[in-house]
Amino acid sequence: MLRLLAQVPSTENQVVDFLLRFFMIVGLMSLRRSFMKFVRTLFYMIRPPANLKQKYGDKSWAVVTGASDGIGRGFCEELAKDGLNICLVSRTKEKLDQVAAYLQ
Ligand SMILES: NC(=O)c1ccc[n+]([C@@H]2O[C@H](COP(=O)([O-])OP(=O)(O)OC[C@H]3O[C@@H](n4cnc5c(N)ncnc54)[C@H](OP(=O)(O)O)[C@@H]3O)[C@@H](O)[C@H]2O)c1
Repeated sequence: MLRLLAQVPSTENQVVDFLLRFFMIVGLMSLRRSFMKFVRTLFYMIRPPANLKQKYGDKSWAVVTGASDGIGRGFCEELAKDGLNICLVSRTKEKLDQVAAYLQ
C-alpha cells in the first residue's frame, strides 16, 4: 500500500491507471474474503458430525439446559442418537419426564 502511494504518478492517464489498479486490488481483497467465508460455511455444512461419545469417552455426560422444548430438546435427541448420557435441565418436571422417557 505504501509502495503504491509512493508511486503516485503525475500525468492524468497515469493517475487513472493508478486508481484503477488500486480499486482492483481492494476489490480482489474483498472478493477473496467473501470467498473464504463461503468456503468455510460450506465446510461446516457438509463435514460429518463429530462423534462425541468417541471423542469424550463412554462415561461422558452432556448437560442440556432448556432440554424439554425447542432447541434444547433437539440437542438432546441428537446427543441421545450418539449414545451419550444426558442431564436434562428445565423447570417443569412433567415435561422433563416426558422427554426422558422419549429419549430412552
Ligand atoms: N427458536 C429460535 O429460533 C431462537 C433463535 C434465537 C435465539 N433463541 C433462544 O434460544 C433459547 C431456546 O429457544 P427455544 O426456541 O428452544 O425455546 P423454547 O422452545 O421455549 O424452549 C425453552 C426451554 O427452556 C426451558 N426454560 C425456560 N426458562 C427456564 C429457566 N428459567 N430455567 C431452566 N429452564 C428454562 C423451557 O422449559 P421449562 O419451561 O419447563 O423450564 C424449555 O425447555 C431461548 O433463549 C431463545 O430466546 C431461539
